[in-house]
Amino acid sequence: MQSIVILISGGGSNMAALVRAAQQEDWAARYGAQIAAVISNRADAVGLRWAQAQGIATHTISHADFPDRAQFDAALAQAIASCVGAGKPPLVLLAGFMRILTPTFVQAHAGRLINIHPSLLPAFTGLQTHERALAAGCKFAGATVHRVTEVLDEGAILEQSVVPVLPEDDAQSLAARVLATEHLIYPRAVRRLLAAGFS
Ligand code: GRF
Repeated sequence: MQSIVILISGGGSNMAALVRAAQQEDWAARYGAQIAAVISNRADAVGLRWAQAQGIATHTISHADFPDRAQFDAALAQAIASCVGAGKPPLVLLAGFMRILTPTFVQAHAGRLINIHPSLLPAFTGLQTHERALAAGCKFAGATVHRVTEVLDEGAILEQSVVPVLPEDDAQSLAARVLATEHLIYPRAVRRLLAAGFS
């Protein structure tokens, strides 16, 4: 069985979209894949409660408990490995996980580490993507599912969605329009990876 571990920091709506797709499309039967655990770096992440209600194993590894990024990432890697046991290395999906990962962590999960970012990469890496898209006068915005490399929000693009920017938009309304499309493209990207054996 191919395990999937989802990392979150907050609301977890992308995580929920992935879990729903896995259930509705029976990824276990179709691809031999199952969502093994949801891990948050914040104990108060709303998404954790939703995952628990679905019967999914959850863990919190608080970054505040570690003196530096390297030690937090080591603990995170250990938690991921322990969710999976001796099976195949897991697919690790960042879903609103608001931490920059160290090169060591990225290399350890190379080829199996995926992120979703709320902009049309390579435009607007980092934070405040919707504010910046509005300030730049963009007529379109969107989201990107991409492989994670050591460089923030870089890496091969797997899926993108595009939405119009409307004249009356503020960052909140634009974020909501983009987020609705994230819930479509993240499951689609994962489905394609599973079907292709991650190639
Ligand atoms: C999403 O827009 C995601 O792309 C970004 O943070 C937001 C998280 O939303 N990184 P959620 O936690 O999945 O609801």
